[in-house]
Amino acid sequence: MADKEAFDLVIVGSGPGGYVAAVKAAQLGLKTACVEKETRLGGVCLNVGCIPSKALLDSSEYYHLAKEQFAAHGIKTGRVSLDLAAMMDRKEQVVAELTKNVQQLLKRHKIAIIKGTATLKAADQVQVSGTTEDNKTFEQILKTKNILLATGSKPIAPPGLEFDGDRIVSSTEALQFDAIPKALGVVGGGYIGLELGSVWKRLGSKVTVLEMLPQIATNLDGQVGRTLKRLLSRQGMEFRLKTKVVSTKHVGQKVRATVESNGKKETLSFDKLLIAVGRKPSTEGLGLETVGVETDASTGCVKVDANYRTSVTSIYAIGDLVAGPMLAHKASAEGIAAVECIAGLPGEVNYDAVPAVIYTWPEVASVGLSEQQLKERNIPYRSGTYPFAGNGRARCMGETDGLAKLLAHQKTGRILGVHIIGPRASEMIAECVLAVELGATAETIARTIHGHPTFAEALQEAAMMASS
Ligand code: NAI
Repeated sequence: MADKEAFDLVIVGSGPGGYVAAVKAAQLGLKTACVEKETRLGGVCLNVGCIPSKALLDSSEYYHLAKEQFAAHGIKTGRVSLDLAAMMDRKEQVVAELTKNVQQLLKRHKIAIIKGTATLKAADQVQVSGTTEDNKTFEQILKTKNILLATGSKPIAPPGLEFDGDRIVSSTEALQFDAIPKALGVVGGGYIGLELGSVWKRLGSKVTVLEMLPQIATNLDGQVGRTLKRLLSRQGMEFRLKTKVVSTKHVGQKVRATVESNGKKETLSFDKLLIAVGRKPSTEGLGLETVGVETDASTGCVKVDANYRTSVTSIYAIGDLVAGPMLAHKASAEGIAAVECIAGLPGEVNYDAVPAVIYTWPEVASVGLSEQQLKERNIPYRSGTYPFAGNGRARCMGETDGLAKLLAHQKTGRILGVHIIGPRASEMIAECVLAVELGATAETIARTIHGHPTFAEALQEAAMMASS
């Protein structure tokens, strides 16, 4: 295929980092192309990450509510049964609609969508190779002033814990089991382990989480992390902490996991084993070495400066490829900031105001520093905590577990961190992120009128405590 016309910006990857950056670039008047190697746009988040997992979390929550909670609300259903195939079809439909929306969004902004695998050939050249719809292979060179790398990340499979795609699986396969595993082992008590563990627990699996550290979701505020573990344990999820999985073996219809705990070795048996021990930047085959883009030797992250510029002046990188939390919304924010920098505008991300959410039930959401971090940094603080048991709306819903916790500076009252575990925490955190972004004080939230009855009143109560 002939060489293509020159672009202002070629973006590699169409996930929440890449496609959001592409739209911003088009809005700023840059002639933009977006290269994607998968058939569908949207990256891991839309296709095999955030979206399908949330679709299954919502569906499995409805199933659980119908089975366990409806009776308490006076609703009689008869025997509730599960149609797993229909649940999976619905998830697929949600994904298909959203990826189609991304395609339309890019087209509407006149962004060239190029399906194929991108390799950097020079500081101003990207080679794309792939197969056309009529099954012919092609190769083309895109000439461009700037390149933005947004290729995301992929699951880590340490030695001994390699995926076999059938019984020893990553999150991708755990989103599409065609039957409910009787015993599901989950290696890693982080975001993925807790969310997908929750899905399969609700659908009927016996779920055992094997976590090598003394607590789950280690980046959470300690009080919230302990509450989460207690509530998930009460739902029947089993936790084996300080338990490191050292090797796995597929034996017949079972998976054997050898674990080390308190200096002793033990073998556990499961029907499926989900390995969720973290993710690593996706840089293989990108040609970083060819053009001299530097990476961090220990993390594999692409090194960038404050403007998301790599060691090659015309090449930028964002999202899971660069340092920081591997979160879709962080990638989108960086995509916008990077494009602004490329267009000569001041673009930056406030890393103090990045929310984090775990979509278990109850949900966990936080922004800013945890109580441990404040102690470690010797920052004087005031804390306000309010339980959902005292919240009217939570009582109406019958969801009284959890708490809202607000941490503010001792002297100035400025909000330093908010940590919520409770119903709809994912939605409640938005107010707190805005507060942190604006440098608001606890008193600002305390004096802000909140609708009654709402879950957010728990947050207001916590703010009142932290500001009194
Ligand atoms: P993670 O980093 O959240 O948790 C991995 C856990 O595995 C850690 O607690 C670690 O101590 C443990 N571990 C590592 N090796 C082990 C071993 N051999 N035996 C036992 N435990 C071991 O990683 P995860 O859950 O795979 O998620 C990857 C990334 O995806 C996260 O960093 C997160 O940013 C992102 N993500 C975000 C979601 C959200 O925003 N709701 C949902 C899902 C993923």
